[in-house]
Amino acid sequence: MSKDKEGKDIVTVGALKFGFDSRVAIDTLRSLYLRPHYVSTVADFENETPKEQEEFHSLFVRGSATDYQSKSIFHPNDNSISYTTLSRFPPVKLLPPANRKRVLVTGGAGFVGSHLVDRLMLLGHEVTVLDNFFTGSKTTVSHWVGHPNFEMIRHDVIEPFMIECDQIYHLACPASPPHYQFNAVKTIKTSFMGTLNMLGLAKRTKARFLITSTSEVYGDPEVHPQPEDYWGHVNPIGPRACYDEGKRVAETLTYGFHRQDGVDVRVARIFNTFGPRMNPYDGRVVSNFIIQALKGEDITVYGDGKQTRSFQYVHDLVDGLIYLMNSDETRPVNIGNGDEFTIQQFAELVRDLVVKVQQEDGVENPRRSDIKYEPMPPDDPQMRRPDTTRAKEVLGWQPRWTVKMGIEEMVRYYKAKMAEGSM
Ligand SMILES: NC(=O)c1ccc[n+]([C@@H]2O[C@H](COP(=O)([O-])OP(=O)(O)OC[C@H]3O[C@@H](n4cnc5c(N)ncnc54)[C@H](O)[C@@H]3O)[C@@H](O)[C@H]2O)c1
Repeated sequence: MSKDKEGKDIVTVGALKFGFDSRVAIDTLRSLYLRPHYVSTVADFENETPKEQEEFHSLFVRGSATDYQSKSIFHPNDNSISYTTLSRFPPVKLLPPANRKRVLVTGGAGFVGSHLVDRLMLLGHEVTVLDNFFTGSKTTVSHWVGHPNFEMIRHDVIEPFMIECDQIYHLACPASPPHYQFNAVKTIKTSFMGTLNMLGLAKRTKARFLITSTSEVYGDPEVHPQPEDYWGHVNPIGPRACYDEGKRVAETLTYGFHRQDGVDVRVARIFNTFGPRMNPYDGRVVSNFIIQALKGEDITVYGDGKQTRSFQYVHDLVDGLIYLMNSDETRPVNIGNGDEFTIQQFAELVRDLVVKVQQEDGVENPRRSDIKYEPMPPDDPQMRRPDTTRAKEVLGWQPRWTVKMGIEEMVRYYKAKMAEGSM
């Protein structure tokens, strides 16, 4: 059982706020991400009884809602997969038509988007995912394919798109430096043209529009922590500018449509977030540390480890996005966790939690990784810390998850990915 920052058990995420009930049992959500997509086994699965297969599979998912798992099987001998579609979907709320929203989630196959989609689906809304699968993957939401409330469309937001909808969560944009710098011109086109297209859609359908902006709009800040009325300190021509300036102009467009055309807008400025389904190879510190420790390798710390970082867990972010969408707040709102850790503390925490999880899962004498130090890369960004006073005041939102709990779930998630052989 996970405990929140005040030591209370976390049984549900979300809340009943602004007339929108976003409460979902955490165990149901976990059954959607803390599991392998397929079981890798040398055992001859086809010759086992359904009960034996079920028991074998539940070893990987620790007994959680196996009814809702796809039981696809990887055959290492001939390197092939037998895909199985779901026989049952997790139960979703039966909402009266007046309460059921038609929600468009651009970038819904990405890390944050897929968690938002899980939540909106379980709450009984009709969800359309629009994604070009540049950094996202169909597998993050494939457990909903075929559900009558769900649609997934391959589409690039730089092209116009028409649909009838009530709410648009506009997330489509690569978010990690290696991905957004891969094609800087495309990133800025996605930010500008993608946002222009989605705002045009919001204007036509009178849908409420929420954009996921970023703490990067504050650049290398001269003010700590950063409140929303700080205008930022961004280098307009540096390698990060395609993302930072892209998001700044996307915000400008958003408020242009709001003032000129009365589009109902929400702007979330998201600070560093981590959680399951995060790309393990995009160089983020949390995933790097966990994967090294799980593989029994030494953990690499750049610099002396005294630099600080702060991260929020993805469920807190999804709570914040849903509260903001359903509130009356049209000004930008920071959503982030201000608890700072030194990198050294992070590394030690990850190392201890990996050993703890391995022991709980019956691994005898798991290796406790050592920490090795390497020189700091030259462009390591200065850290930002959110001032979340506005989120607290207008949304009643505060982070509930501790970094420790979040890391523990991440360890279990990556363990499952390793079990399926995809990492
Ligand atoms: N994760 C964080 O820490 C963080 C921090 C600040 C802001 N954000 C913002 O949150 C949003 C989601 O981030 P994430 O971490 O889930 O990233 P992600 O890369 O996992 O997800 C982005 C999704 O958008 C899709 N996409 C990219 N370009 C597209 C295009 N042109 N057309 C259609 N789909 C496209 C990708 O395929 C992917 O599914 C982004 O807008 C990002 O800027 C994230």
